[in-house]
Amino acid sequence: MRILSKFSNYRIWDMTKTKRVLSGIQPSATPTLGNYLGALKFWVEDQDEADCYYLIVDLHAITVDQSPEVLKEHTLNLAALLLAIGIDTKRSTLFIQSQVPEHAQLGWLMESTVTFGELSRMTQFKEKGKGSNTTRASLFTYPALMAADILLYQTTHVPVGEDQKQHLELARDLALRFNNRYGDTFKVPEPEIPKVGARIMDLQDPLRKMSKSSKAASGNIYLTDTADSVSRKIKRAVTDAENKVYFDPGNPQKAGVNNLLTIFGALTGDDPRDIAERYSGYGALKDDLANALVDTLNPIRSRIVELRSDDTSLIALLREGSAKAQAIASKTLRNAKEAMGLIS
Ligand code: TYM
Repeated sequence: MRILSKFSNYRIWDMTKTKRVLSGIQPSATPTLGNYLGALKFWVEDQDEADCYYLIVDLHAITVDQSPEVLKEHTLNLAALLLAIGIDTKRSTLFIQSQVPEHAQLGWLMESTVTFGELSRMTQFKEKGKGSNTTRASLFTYPALMAADILLYQTTHVPVGEDQKQHLELARDLALRFNNRYGDTFKVPEPEIPKVGARIMDLQDPLRKMSKSSKAASGNIYLTDTADSVSRKIKRAVTDAENKVYFDPGNPQKAGVNNLLTIFGALTGDDPRDIAERYSGYGALKDDLANALVDTLNPIRSRIVELRSDDTSLIALLREGSAKAQAIASKTLRNAKEAMGLIS
């Protein structure tokens, strides 16, 4: 049974779907191929079988300094990009985190559930902010807000790349702790981490994760890169002197080739080992991979330009999504507050 929404583009809740998916991405820079193959591709696929909530996590982005103008631009570009890759607002709810105040509110309740020790053990915090006096407090408490994002929607599955696994485990621990202490309030979410593509590496330094916040653009493929730029970056990708194509995950000597084969595999759905067997040298592998990437990325780029030509409609669509999300989030927040003894 489908209950129709009062909104033009969104349905309220599809009663036939028991899987509820939620995931988020920061509008901190242009998304990379790592974001796409580790997470966004599955956001699109999950729409066929789940009730999906996808959020642009601007509150997470301001845990480090952002220029206000650039942040706005990145947020709208990211919304257009998500629509361009196939997020369909007739089937999913796409929204902006800061437009739903329940996220910050449940975030506080989660900060009052998590411990200092747990937050101190988060590897992303250790890498990005530990030991510096200028690190923002919100970077430290970031995983509590991420737990709130997930738990507000009674999420069952969270598609993410490998770097978010520890945050997901913490969100699960917090849900269980809260339920045990205050009574059943939250679903305990499962991570969905892809077998191939969960950790796409930098093309110039294949021992380092490809990251949208990385300053060296040559190691990243951005989802908005032109065909020329993609081909150039793949051609220049670091490999090794052996010139033998085989898949040997975990071998640092083959990290560059492993990464290219992983990208190819994640993109096509083929096993990287099978792909390796088709090539006798790096040149042909790189040519074919570059072509496959260009075929995927070209239509995305032109669709983004089209969508950004009408920001009024884009912002209206996001507001609809935020209102739809808030209808669910406010119920969970009320239950959580009451469970803790806060009078609502
Ligand atoms: P963010 O914005 O850093 O990344 C978005 C998604 O992309 C994945 N990813 C990668 N996957 C494979 N290889 C890579 N090199 C790579 N780089 C990034 C990330 O794992 C992520 O799935 N904290 C989150 C955002 C967030 C969130 C949430 C996610 C906030 N609330 C609730 C899920 C649920 C982050 O900073 O993602």
